[in-house]
Amino acid sequence: MIRKKLIAGNWKMNKTSADAVQLAQDLVTEIGKVVDIDIVICPPFTSLESVGKAIDGSTVKLGAQNMHHEASGAFTGEISAPMLRAFFATHVILGHSERRQYFAETDAAVNKKVIAALKNQLRPILCVGETLAEREAGSTLKVVQTQLEAGLEGVSKDLATSVVIAYEPVWAIGTGKVATTEQAQEVHAFIRTLLTKLFGEQVAQKVRILYGGSMKPANAPELLAQKDIDGGLIGGASLETRSFVDLVKAAV
Ligand code: G3P
Repeated sequence: MIRKKLIAGNWKMNKTSADAVQLAQDLVTEIGKVVDIDIVICPPFTSLESVGKAIDGSTVKLGAQNMHHEASGAFTGEISAPMLRAFFATHVILGHSERRQYFAETDAAVNKKVIAALKNQLRPILCVGETLAEREAGSTLKVVQTQLEAGLEGVSKDLATSVVIAYEPVWAIGTGKVATTEQAQEVHAFIRTLLTKLFGEQVAQKVRILYGGSMKPANAPELLAQKDIDGGLIGGASLETRSFVDLVKAAV
């Protein structure tokens, strides 16, 4: 089964709208016609509309970094799936470790968001991954299993292929410490086994599993050559045209 690779840029809380549009325009110039892989950029909410316009007509897709599970209501400061759809977003990152760590997002909360995203034809990029303490305690697979199963609870077999999983070991995020290809492939293969148990072999073979955590042009080729690594969720290296373009090229 050939899965189309996916490179997603998570811009986190970076760039004003003007800076975001500039980067988006530069990316469109360089990689706006790429069709061999999927490319998604996820700017802050404040730039979704302007970046959406800047990439319109290119093959680069728009994603958000979070959303609320309700469609509307008294939830000050929150953004809903229909609002993201109105900006033509196609993807949404959910359960990122920074959301779990700094905003106390639980597996149950992440699950509600995953269900709401799918209901609104948004592809969730569900993030899972262990902390350094959890890895050192030997509980990596258990942590990933809990997050994955809880995050996907209630997702039907039909919709499961719309989900993207991102394995992001917390200790590798923004630290320059990338997981070894063996460490990453081991967890990716484990995730695929879990997906097979949940949804069957056919569906599991179609789900993209991205690696995230200090992925750079230099280490990407080796990571992307692994059997179960279907792309990357990129933080730091997605903030600059050259490095993101080189990451896309590594995946093509
Ligand atoms: O979501 C992407 C991410 O957390 C990885 O960040 O800066 O290590 O590539 P970075």
